[in-house]
Amino acid sequence: MPRIALATYDPGAEPHRDNDLPVLVRALLERGVEAEAQYWDDPWADWGGYDLVLIRSTWDYSWRAAEFADWVERVGRVTRLANPADVARWSMDKRYLGELAAAGVPTVPTSYIAPGEAAELPDGHEYVIKPTSGAGARFAARYTPGEHDIAVRQLARMHAEGFTAMVQPYVRGIDVSGERALQFFGGRLLHASRKGAVLAPGTPYDAEKVAHPDLTRWQPTADELAVAERALAAVPGAPELLYARVDLVDAEDGTPRLMELELVEPNLFLWLHPGSLEHVVKAVLVAAGEGVTG
Ligand SMILES: Nc1ncnc2c1ncn2[C@@H]1O[C@H](COP(=O)(O)OP(=O)(O)O)[C@@H](O)[C@H]1O
Ligand SMILES: [Mg+2]
Repeated sequence: MPRIALATYDPGAEPHRDNDLPVLVRALLERGVEAEAQYWDDPWADWGGYDLVLIRSTWDYSWRAAEFADWVERVGRVTRLANPADVARWSMDKRYLGELAAAGVPTVPTSYIAPGEAAELPDGHEYVIKPTSGAGARFAARYTPGEHDIAVRQLARMHAEGFTAMVQPYVRGIDVSGERALQFFGGRLLHASRKGAVLAPGTPYDAEKVAHPDLTRWQPTADELAVAERALAAVPGAPELLYARVDLVDAEDGTPRLMELELVEPNLFLWLHPGSLEHVVKAVLVAAGEGVTG
């Protein structure tokens, strides 16, 4: 039986927020697998001693990007890492949206402002500024054209923290049809969920946001599946992905656009889709090199 580490963040004194983690560890243990959660930044962890390191919920990586990029590189050298190091590094930086758009994937229109670059902000419509290295809507906020000065100040703060900023129109469809997360695992659609809008008007830049409000199960449409598959097919190098979450919102014309392609540490929302656990466990065992039957 393989040994598997599920890499997660160290919650310190707070309760751990990854609801999928205990469910997965337990299901793997029940299969006789030596599975354990490991803090990704634990200096004593012996990554090479595992058959598979599954990146599960390394949720502090977005403000420790260089350290995390080194970590995936290092672990990828000593054992099987899922998703692979190249994929994780590519997906950590939301500049991939520009690459995917250039490859013809329908995406939310995005421009980027690196530290030191002039702030060209929209003035005809509401817009969002957020860091290219982000998760949980950290530092994301929306602005009306009248809030230009506040937006410039918050952009400066983002730059001072070392982040490149990305600017997008506020996609109003999200207030009507929400955001849909299509989750893939082991090469097929696992399940999908729908969540409400995170950026209510006036939500401050540095507020702690509810990352997945009003989450419900969702049956993806043919258009959503098509955009998701195009996005996955456009990942450079056509790597093998153990898991992927494709987040979509509706443009003004009602067609789905890519908001985020999460290939590092997606919530799986197994509590909402308990029937998906079995497939996840099988796919993890296959990834660990264990031929699975039945
Ligand atoms: N352009 C946008 N229009 C509307 N809402 C947005 C936009 N960008 C981000 N949001 C909201 O902020 C949340 C977080 O943004 P996202 O790009 O998914 O980053 P992450 O989830 O990695 O923090 C989204 O789930 C969505 O609710
Ligand atoms: Mg998101």
